[in-house]
Parts: sequence; structure tokens; C-alpha cells
Amino acid sequence: MANAVTIQDINMAYETISHYVHTTPVFTNLTLDHLVGRKVFFKAENFQKTGSFKARGALNAVLALKSKNPYVKGVVTHSSGNHGEALAWASKIAQVECIVVVTKDTPKTKCQAIKGYGAELVFCQSPSDRKKTCDHISNEKNFPYVPTADHYDIIAGQGTIAVEFLKQVPELDAILVPVSGGGMASGIAIAAKAIKPNIKVFLIEPEGKMCELCLQTGTRLWSDPPKFLHTIADGLRLQPIGKLTWPIILDFVEKEVFSVTDEDIIKAMKFVFERLKLVIEPTSAIGVAAVMSERLAAMDTKMKNIGVILSGGNVDTDHLPWC
Ligand SMILES: Cc1ncc(COP(=O)(O)O)c(C=O)c1O
Repeated sequence: MANAVTIQDINMAYETISHYVHTTPVFTNLTLDHLVGRKVFFKAENFQKTGSFKARGALNAVLALKSKNPYVKGVVTHSSGNHGEALAWASKIAQVECIVVVTKDTPKTKCQAIKGYGAELVFCQSPSDRKKTCDHISNEKNFPYVPTADHYDIIAGQGTIAVEFLKQVPELDAILVPVSGGGMASGIAIAAKAIKPNIKVFLIEPEGKMCELCLQTGTRLWSDPPKFLHTIADGLRLQPIGKLTWPIILDFVEKEVFSVTDEDIIKAMKFVFERLKLVIEPTSAIGVAAVMSERLAAMDTKMKNIGVILSGGNVDTDHLPWC
């Protein structure tokens, strides 16, 4: 199961998408390095097409669908925003229609961008209605459903982040990855471990997700239908890791998980705005919060070079989390 996606799949995904996506830059900050006593490298996926890493997986998935079935007319998804934007953008490249189901509280900037990339937006009442609405549209229009994370072509697309990051910074000892459905974490873990077997990949979660307990007991303890977490990290509100991404994460990712609070996220986001001069969304700030945490301070000092994924920059400037 765990090798359902291989480094070869990820390299192929990179060939497929590299004409369309950006090679995102890596930033460092000496103040932070002194503060945490290690070198920290930020992979700025907030500069990726559509403002988040999601462009990689969405494009890989849509182009794979199109190559399997050139007559496919459209795709449908539900999303907290970033995957919706990415799928809308990818669908335009693949010349297929796109419908995105969102809840009413989805940030305005994300909704505007989804429409701006040419997709149709469908609103539903609550997070638990999203999948039902999506399935209904999928059946009615015969549009395949492209999930945010739990899909092998999405996982392979997100894995390209690690291929690129390790070319830019081969000395990385660890990579810290924000986790929701686990598409990014599983893709990065497969690629990073294949390229550099001793590297460590850690998850970062909003408080209450329970990844550490699940990893340490080896059990997916989450309920179905999924629960949603109260966190300002709007991209990470879905509690469970996916059914396909879970076995990969269990195999390749460290059993210690960084768990961060809203307060930690705000502190980290302000630090990045003020010191790195980068616009990131709260979901993206959890990596920075993890780097600034006591948990990292207590870890093996041989882990000198830490990579952090700044996963997105689609911040709603009318609703900054400290205002
Ligand atoms: C900015 C951002 N970072 C991280 C994630 C988590 O990604 P995944 O669902 O692949 O775990 C998301 C998911 O929506 C996101 O929008």
C-alpha cells in the first residue's frame, strides 16, 4: 500500500507539471536561526501559482484524467479554498470545466479567486454537506471528483515540492509539513525518503487533530463522517488524514508531531510578516510556529538544517486573525 506512489511517479509528475508551475524560492532568516539555534529554510509555496502548493497536485491530477479520458468534460471538488483555486486554474490549462463546492464561511478572497480562474462556485450550508453536494454534481454531470488530498495523482504532484527543495538545499536534515488530508505530507515523505533516506519528515497539526496518538498507536482513530476543528488555520479544519494518505504517513513520517495553538499561529504569522516580509496565511504559519516551539528546542541538536513549507499565501486581508 505504502508504495502505491513511488519516486518514479513523483518524477513523472514533475515532468508533467514543471512547464506550468513555479520553482518556488527558498528564504532564510538569521534572527530566527539565532533564536532557534538551527538553520531554517523556508520553501515559499505561497509564491506558487494560485498562491499555494495545491497547484502542483491539482494540475497533475487533471492532466492525468485528461490523458486517460480525452473526452472528460469537467471536474468537481469541494475545498476550503486553496484546492478549489488550484483545480480551477488547472482545469483552465486542461480545457475542462470545473465546479467547486465551498461552505459559506470560505474566505472571500479564495471564493473570488476560484471564480476568477473560471470555475463555477456552489455554496453549501455546512462542512458535512460538502461531499454530498459534490457527489450529487458528479453523478448528474458525469464530472469526476478530484479530492483535495486523498488521491494518488495529487500525492505525486505534491511530492514534487520535496524533489525541488532537496535540489535547492541538499543538506536538509528534516522537513516540517502542515497536515490536513495528508496529500502534501505523504508526497513529500515518499520523495524525501527516496532521495535522502536519513531525512526526517514531521507533521505539524492544529491542536485537537490527534495525529500523534494515531501515529503512536498505528491506528486511524478518526470518526466518519469527519469532524472539523476550530482553528484560524482555515486550510486545516478537516480532522482526519485520508484513507490513502494515512498508510504512507504511518510508514514514512516521524511519530512525534508538532501541535500548535491559534496563539502560536498568530505569533508566527506576525514574525513572518515583520521579519521575512512575506505574506502567508494562518495555515502556512503553523510551520513557523513549530520551528519556534519548545518541542523543536528539545529535539536532537544533530538536526541542524530544518526545512519548513510555507504552504500558502491566500490571506484574507479583511480578516487578519489578530484584528
Ligand atoms: C495552505 C495549506 N497548507 C497545508 C494544507 C494541508 O494539505 P493536505 O490536505 O495535503 O494535508 C492545506 C490544505 O488545504 C492548505 O490549504
